[in-house]
Parts: sequence; C-alpha cells; structure tokens
Amino acid sequence: MFKVIKKEGSARRGEFQCAHGGVVQTPVFMNVGTQAAIKGGLSAFDLKDIGCQIELSNTYHLHLRPGDDVVRQMGGLHRFMRWDGPILTDSGGFQVFSLASLRKIKEEGVTFASHLDGHRIFMGPEESMQIQSNLGSDIAMAFDECVENPATYEYAKASCERTLRWLERCKKEHDRLNGLPGTVNPGQMLFGINQGATFPDLRIWHMQEIAKLDCDGYAIGGLAVGEPTETMYEIIEAVEPYMPADKPRYLMGVGTPSNIIEGVARGVDFFDCVMPARNARHGKLFTWQGTLNIKNAKYKLDDGPIDPQCDCPVCRQFSRAYVRHLFAAEEILAMRLAVMHNLYFYNKLTQKIRDALDEGRFAAFRAEYSEKLSQKI
Ligand code: GUN
Ligand code: ZN
Repeated sequence: MFKVIKKEGSARRGEFQCAHGGVVQTPVFMNVGTQAAIKGGLSAFDLKDIGCQIELSNTYHLHLRPGDDVVRQMGGLHRFMRWDGPILTDSGGFQVFSLASLRKIKEEGVTFASHLDGHRIFMGPEESMQIQSNLGSDIAMAFDECVENPATYEYAKASCERTLRWLERCKKEHDRLNGLPGTVNPGQMLFGINQGATFPDLRIWHMQEIAKLDCDGYAIGGLAVGEPTETMYEIIEAVEPYMPADKPRYLMGVGTPSNIIEGVARGVDFFDCVMPARNARHGKLFTWQGTLNIKNAKYKLDDGPIDPQCDCPVCRQFSRAYVRHLFAAEEILAMRLAVMHNLYFYNKLTQKIRDALDEGRFAAFRAEYSEKLSQKI
C-alpha cells in the first residue's frame, strides 16, 4: 500500500494508497481539523482549494462532542463533514494527556475528566479503536502515552513498555472491528506510535518491538514537547534505521517549515501541526521570504499580496492592507483568509519538496530554504 518511488539520502518520495480518495503523495503535511472543521472557519470545500491531500481529526474531541455514535449514524466522518479525501484520526492518547484533567493511568487505560464539563471518562486501547472505527477514518492511530518532558528513565521505560502492550491490544481490537459486518470503513489502517522520551536506547528497543507487529505505518510520537530541536533531530536519526523501510513514517505534531524539511531529510513521510493555523489566527504568516506579522503598521497602505510568490486564493485576490484592516477590525474573515494562506503555504511546501525529490535536487532545496523560511522579514 506504500511505495517509495525515489530516494535522496534518507529522504523518500512515496505514494500511499488509502481506502478513500485514492493515493496520498508523500512527503505530505496533514491539515488539522480537530473537531471535523479547520479552525478559522474552513470547510471541506476550502481544503480542496488550498491543496490539502489528507485531513486529520481527533478521537478525543469527537468522542466528547458530538459523540462517535452520532458520527457513525451520520454515515461516518467523511460523509459527516463532506470530505471525500483521506482522513487520519489521532487516538486520544496525546489529548488525554494534554487537555484532560484528573488523569489516572492504569494497565487497562486512562480515566480522566472531560475538558468540556468535567464528567469522568475511561479510554483504553479498545475504546480508542472502537471510537475510530465509528468515525471511519482511513488511518487509525494506536492508543499511546506521550510522557511529559523531561521524564525520568524509569518512568519512560515503564510507560513505553505499557504503550507496547497497548499496541498489541489495539491491533487485536482493530482487526476484530474491521471484520464486523456494517463497519463504517472496513479498509481502515492502523499506525503504531514509537515512544521512549529522549532516551535513544528506549526509543530503539520500542521501535524494534512495535515493528514486529506489522502495522500499516509507524509514527514517532512524544517529540516537540519542549525538548531542544537538536534533541528531536537526534531521536529521529536514532530511530529511523529501525523503522520498516516499506511502511510510511509519520512525525507527530511537527512543526515549523524548517522542521519539516529537516524531518524529510531524516526519512519522514507524514507531518501534522496546529502551528500554521494557530499562527495565522495571530496574524503570523509564512512567505517564501520568511515570516511576517500582517498586523504591523507598515502594511497599512501596502497594496501587494501577502506573498508575491504565493498563488493561493487569498494572494491572488487581496492586498496586505486589506488583510491587515480585517485583523484590526476583528472581522472573522481575517482569520479565514490568514489560515487559508498559511495552510496553502504548508501544502505547497510539501509539494515543492516532492518536486525537488522527483528531480533529484532536494539537497539544494534544503540548503536554500531550511533556515530562510523561519526568519522574520
Ligand atoms: N500528537 C503529537 N504527539 C503525539 C503523541 O506522542 N501521541 C499521539 N497519539 N499524538 C500525538
Ligand atoms: Zn497566499
């Protein structure tokens, strides 16, 4: 289902077949629609216009609201949100640890209080698989524990041993659910998640163990949680040789344009991050010359587009002065246009990476853009 079509160093140009919407061209950035909507007021129509190939939603949020039973009765997440392309759902593992309170972790799973109304909920590997089966995503993520940074060696070891046992239970339940009559998406795939905090030996041991379970793909989790960027790169480099070469690799929750280029250089195929949409909502926009803040007074009378090198629907039509005015006037449209531009930029970034790989010039692309794109202009 995954095919590496070209390599340059450790970087891979690939194709991944999903049950919905055909083939995902990799490297790819997944656009985040946590609650079946892109923050900033974008719908599935807009996703098509900004070049999105694959959308990511969250088990945790959709279980709490509207409830995965509701989504199932509405025909599954694709039909509910009217997005017919591929969807990946995160397992709830990370959100339980980052959003919920009063957490209690046991071997069976995690009990926590909803961040919406405080009611107590239990989620373990089986529950996460059942919810993701009801949502009918194309790729389900394993239920894992993302340990806090910094973590002690003892805690990280016990946690990643448990995450391995949880993956075995995920796999069993996932297989069972896919085989049931009436399953929303019987072609749903399952990705395992590597953990082990910042300890290379734990990371490698855990990766070797989860690789034996023959998942459809493998993610590196537990990174970009406050450790230095160099540490994140060292962990990816340590784990990568142990990731099955014929399966897609997904670096969870990463990152800046530079992090994405550097992740690709280290053999990663899939990325997702809330940052481009979040930054957009604060007026921080990406351009091919670096980042800018559109709220800045110097754009008051600027009739040019956000980025002269961008051909997104916003840059083709509107001026910096207009977008700046929308932010000052607190119009909803400010958010929408800013998010459209930033996500288009991220989707274009991975397209340019793919073009460079196709043409054997990724090293030159990396040298030109890796630092430049994160600089303020
Ligand atoms: N998103 C970002 N990091 C993680 C992680 O470690 N686990 C999961 N499930 N999701 C994530
Ligand atoms: Zn643009």
